[in-house]
Amino acid sequence: MSTTSTGTTSTGMTPAPAHVTVIGLGPMGRAMTGAFLDRGHHVTVWNRTPSRADALVARGAVLAATAEEALGASELVVLSLTDYDAVYAVLSGVAPAALAGRVLVNLTSDTPAKARAGAEWVAERGATQITGGVLVPPSGIGDPESSTLYSGPQSVFEAHRPTLEALTGTDYRGEDPGLAALLYQLNMVMFWTSLTSYWQAVAMADAHGLKAADILPLAVNALDLTRFLEFYTPRVDAGDHTGDVDRLAMGAASAEHVLHTATDAGVDGALPAAVLDLFKRGLAAGHGADSCSSLVEILKRSAT
Ligand SMILES: NC(=O)c1ccc[n+]([C@@H]2O[C@H](COP(=O)([O-])OP(=O)(O)OC[C@H]3O[C@@H](n4cnc5c(N)ncnc54)[C@H](OP(=O)(O)O)[C@@H]3O)[C@@H](O)[C@H]2O)c1
Repeated sequence: MSTTSTGTTSTGMTPAPAHVTVIGLGPMGRAMTGAFLDRGHHVTVWNRTPSRADALVARGAVLAATAEEALGASELVVLSLTDYDAVYAVLSGVAPAALAGRVLVNLTSDTPAKARAGAEWVAERGATQITGGVLVPPSGIGDPESSTLYSGPQSVFEAHRPTLEALTGTDYRGEDPGLAALLYQLNMVMFWTSLTSYWQAVAMADAHGLKAADILPLAVNALDLTRFLEFYTPRVDAGDHTGDVDRLAMGAASAEHVLHTATDAGVDGALPAAVLDLFKRGLAAGHGADSCSSLVEILKRSAT
């Protein structure tokens, strides 16, 4: 039975139970299904590997036999798949009529271009895509302090916001279906490079007999970049790379010390070497006396 989901319009109030379908039961989809069930929603699920639904069915979820059946159960359909190739692998196999009228909240991460193409693809089949980017791991699902970026048609999003608030706080950014995907990827480039820098530091510490626990306070302090971000943001937006506080030549010398500290200890130097290479390109471009923020100008252009 197809049911239109409903909910109260004001946040903070418990929305009426809605019918929601979740397609994709990896760690994220399972956590989301659990959060919807916790709020009393009627949840239909489908997954390529059906056994992943067992614990959720025991809690009240309905396991659809096919993706088409799952799409038919709810107007609101959450997609939580590995990437957009997986989305097409699932949705290409269903009759187009099964997609008509559905609101596909696609929380599958991929590139902005793929999110925009996906929105067009579902629109051609009479459905609407809301793109999402979940900013927390599965353990953060169900926590209103967590956040998910959304973009797509605002009126459609607002109609389903109360139901989606079961998952995380909702951060709607605009109509462009690629925008949430773009902001998600900006988040991830900072996340992965920062976390990898931590793993590099742990490996270098280990070479000197230090445990991760020994460098925890140092790591927490180093990765809290708030004061740097607040300092650089207005300057970068103004195109101001004045080297009054820091100079790229100093940064390049420091990056070289980091690389040698790693390689002297027999630790992998690929990451510090890549950082040093970037600094050297900044020097070659004549930014030695400018701020390290001038690397933004190097990064704006592909090196290849
Ligand atoms: N996990 C996180 O910490 C996290 C955080 C933020 C965002 N995300 C994003 O959320 C999405 C889901 O995350 P996840 O950790 O649950 O991902 P996952 O472990 O990759 O699981 C994704 C689901 O995709 C299904 N799938 C993959 N390829 C398929 C195909 N060709 N046909 C049909 N189904 C297919 C899997 O089915 P099977 O069970 O049959 O393999 C599984 O249900 C991803 O886009 C991820 O980037 C994840």
